[in-house]
Amino acid sequence: EENHRESLLIVTGYAAKFFQQSLWETDAGKSIALSYFKERGFRDEIIKKFELGYSPDQWEAFTSQALKDGYQQQFLEETGLSVKRDNGTLYDRYRGRVMFPIHNFTGRIIAFGGRTLKSDKNVPKYVNSPESEIYHKSNVLYGLNFAKKAIREEDNCYLVEGYADVISVHQSGIENVVASSGTSLTVEQIRLIGRLTKNITILYDGDPAGIKASLRGLDMILEEGLNVKVVSFPDGHDPDSYVRLLGSTGFKNYVNQNKKDFILYKTNILLKEAGNDPIRKAEVIREIVESIAKIPDSIKAAVFIRECSTLLQIEERSLNTELNKIRQAKH
Ligand code: GTP
Ligand code: MN
Ligand code: MN
Ligand code: MN
Ligand code: MN
Repeated sequence: EENHRESLLIVTGYAAKFFQQSLWETDAGKSIALSYFKERGFRDEIIKKFELGYSPDQWEAFTSQALKDGYQQQFLEETGLSVKRDNGTLYDRYRGRVMFPIHNFTGRIIAFGGRTLKSDKNVPKYVNSPESEIYHKSNVLYGLNFAKKAIREEDNCYLVEGYADVISVHQSGIENVVASSGTSLTVEQIRLIGRLTKNITILYDGDPAGIKASLRGLDMILEEGLNVKVVSFPDGHDPDSYVRLLGSTGFKNYVNQNKKDFILYKTNILLKEAGNDPIRKAEVIREIVESIAKIPDSIKAAVFIRECSTLLQIEERSLNTELNKIRQAKH
């Protein structure tokens, strides 16, 4: 109930302050974490805006301070900030990590992502808060509270993969940017965006995982009646690394010059994969028509049928026959 939720929100807010203090005011924070953010190109202003922090590299630094300050064990556990040992005592979930608070739509902190500073492959790169009464990750977009005004004004929402991408792109002056952060995109997340704009531009990583994610899973956005564009990045780059490489102006130009409509982007990639194999090409055609069949607006669908007919070198009439078959099968 409301009191319970408020208690959890008070604990996460307290924790964010603790991690911020640890970042800005302790020797370890300044020498290890603040310098890490600076190396990534994050300026003081953006570090403060996103309320970034540092969790001390100790087992109980946060938990013992929180208990001393009167916070109840139950709320520390429920928010996932503390973890219970077999003997009943608590230890810190986040140790020696840079901390990215996750905000809800109104800007309250509901969870954290903590990034390791070690390059050890056996350590998970990110540790995230577990689900709780205040954090349902399928309903949350990282950065939405900072982006919502710009999304409405620009009538477009940029969607990236990670926390650092949101922060770097925001810092470059593109403030209408959010991330799904680890989970693959959900219908709830798309509806959150859909209340602000009908236009989504995907900026996923230029690695095989990012490309795969940008081919699958995006049909869902079409089904919700939104327009989808895609910008791809060279292999090994993500929006964060590319902003750093090109600078703010260069990045903005790159994004504007490389926006492709999702259906046409997908058609081109699948066609390239299929090569000259006629069976595989037929599969590509079917897959593309299936994507087009997800578009609720039939006029928009007709436009795509025309463009894809050119790309796929197949008559519009054949594509329409296939489209109607798929539509009838769905009813
Ligand atoms: P940086 O290396 O800090 O630039 O991170 P990144 O965001 O570029 O990481 P990557 O592209 O590997 O992953 C994208 C997003 O997936 C991250 O921002 C996280 O939200 C999530 N993610 C990545 N690695 C892990 C992990 O080990 N565990 C969990 N739970 N999530 C992860
Ligand atoms: Mn409750
Ligand atoms: Mn990646
Ligand atoms: Mn990445
Ligand atoms: Mn990255």
